[in-house]
Amino acid sequence: MAGLVVRRGGRRVLHGLSFAVGSGSVVGLLGPSGCGKTTLLRSLVGVQRIESGRARVLGQPPGSSALRDQVGYVTQAVSVYRDLTVAQNVRYFAALQGAGARDVAAAVHAVGLTDQADQRVERLSGGQASRASLACALVGDPQLLVLDEPTVGLDPVTRESLWTYFRSLADRGVTLLVSSHVMDEASRCDSLLLMREGRLVAQLTPAELLRRTGASTPDEAFLRIIREQDTREAEGEPA
Ligand SMILES: Nc1ncnc2c1ncn2[C@@H]1O[C@H](COP(=O)(O)OP(=O)(O)OP(=O)(O)O)[C@@H](O)[C@H]1O
Ligand SMILES: [Mg+2]
Repeated sequence: MAGLVVRRGGRRVLHGLSFAVGSGSVVGLLGPSGCGKTTLLRSLVGVQRIESGRARVLGQPPGSSALRDQVGYVTQAVSVYRDLTVAQNVRYFAALQGAGARDVAAAVHAVGLTDQADQRVERLSGGQASRASLACALVGDPQLLVLDEPTVGLDPVTRESLWTYFRSLADRGVTLLVSSHVMDEASRCDSLLLMREGRLVAQLTPAELLRRTGASTPDEAFLRIIREQDTREAEGEPA
């Protein structure tokens, strides 16, 4: 990404973001509600109009047809068909991606829904439904997984198993871009993109975040970075 500018509802919501992400890693996109995380992810998967700047995903313009089976995207809201079963939903996405029945079973297993595979999504709990969404994104074996707050509303045990699974995907070379506003998930990532009000505040590793701020938790570290920035701006220095 270089100088990414995006407007929504007549207002600029991304103000020239530049960053690069290495393959085979888990990248956390963190920042307060409304700072532009979803907008950035939408830009990467090609469903958001970009006003200016250069965006490349796996070397291609976002949304290009070459990326169709290489990028999996899970939106913040559950986006599966509620009147279909888990397996039917995943099979539908598999068909779009040219994936087979074995991939369907593997994706359902990966999110821990094997026992619920034949239940309609409307009969599942909130967390189960969001895992069904995730299975749909996993099924084509994408090179890049873009996940918008995938662990919201999940219990600690399920969150733990999902993060373990994300790690195993990254070990196989998959790149995961995961947004969250739960800062304790920062320590699960290889690198972090910290956002605030449509701007990138920092790109660094979780260890660097703690070292640079002297904080003991990512939450505290993020607050310190924001305070530092406010102080600099108050003193009239450029951010
Ligand atoms: N459909 C829309 N039309 C106009 N403005 C929008 C729209 N969606 C979001 N925005 C604005 O864009 C900005 C960024 O929103 P975005 O959804 O990207 O934030 P976010 O970081 O994902 O927040 P959250 O953590 O709450 O999901 C916000 O100021 C929001 O008001
Ligand atoms: Mg969002």
